[in-house]
Amino acid sequence: MAPTFTPGSEQTDSTNSNQFKDQWVPETRFGKWFLSTEWWSVFVLKEAIADLHQLAGKRLPANPVLLDVGCGQGASFPLLEQYFAPQSICAVDVDPALLKVAELSGENCRCEVGVHLGSVKKLDIPDDTFDMIFCHQLIHHISFRELAMAEIYRVLKPGGLLLLSESCQHFLHVYWVAWLFRHPKMEQKTAEGYIDLVKDAGFELTGSDVLESTPWWSKRDFGLLRKWGLPSSEPKTTEISLVAIKPE
Ligand SMILES: C[S@@+](CC[C@H](N)C(=O)[O-])C[C@H]1O[C@@H](n2cnc3c(N)ncnc32)[C@H](O)[C@@H]1O
Repeated sequence: MAPTFTPGSEQTDSTNSNQFKDQWVPETRFGKWFLSTEWWSVFVLKEAIADLHQLAGKRLPANPVLLDVGCGQGASFPLLEQYFAPQSICAVDVDPALLKVAELSGENCRCEVGVHLGSVKKLDIPDDTFDMIFCHQLIHHISFRELAMAEIYRVLKPGGLLLLSESCQHFLHVYWVAWLFRHPKMEQKTAEGYIDLVKDAGFELTGSDVLESTPWWSKRDFGLLRKWGLPSSEPKTTEISLVAIKPE
C-alpha cells in the first residue's frame, strides 16, 4: 500500500489553533452541530460528491492519493471511499475540535486516513503531492481565497483533479444563513466568481466541468411557494460544483 502523506513538522502543535487565529472564523455551535447531522451528510455532502463523481467521469484516477482540505468532522471520508476508492486520504482542517471527530471517522475507513491540523493559507505539504483534491464548502469560510487556491494548485500533481463544491452569495447572504452560521465579513462569490477564482489560479476547466444548482434547502422559501402553486421568483444559482485540472 502506498504511504499516507504526512505533513511535515512545520505543522507545529497539533492541538494549538491559536497559530491560525487570523486565518479562521470559528463556526457557531449550531453550525458545528449541523455539520454532524444526517441532513448535512445526505442532502449536502453526498449530493455534492455524487455530482463531482459524475462531472469527473472517465478522468478519475484509479486509487488516488487524495487531500480533503477543510475536512471538518470527516463526514466525507466514507463517501470519498465509496465514490473514489482512494489509496489514502490526507485530511486537513484548522479546527482541532472538529479534527477529533474526524480522527474517529478515519478509523472506520478501509484506506489509510491521516488527519492533520493546518490552514489552507499555507499547507505544510510539498509541491505536486496529490492525485486529487476534494474541497467542500471551505472557500466561503476564508477571506484569502486567492492564496488558498494557489496552495491547492501547488500541492496537486500536474494532471491532477480539483473537485470543488461551494455555496454562492445568493444563499450565503440570506438573513437566516448569516444568523445561524459564521463567515468572514466579505462579499461572497457568485458561481461565475468561483469559476474565475479557479481559472485565475491556473486550473483548466470547460463549461461541461461545472454544475450550477439551486437545491430546495438553499431556496429562501425552501421551495414551498412553488409546491403550493403560489407565485415565486426564478431560482438563482446557490450552489456550484466543478472539476478542474492542473495542466501537465
Ligand atoms: C462548512 S465546513 C465544511 C467541512 C467539510 N468539508 C464537510 O463538508 O463536512 C468548513 C470547514 O472549513 C474549515 N476551515 C475554516 N477555515 C479554514 C482554514 N483557514 N484552513 C483549513 N480549514 C478551514 C472549518 O474548520 C470547517 O471545518
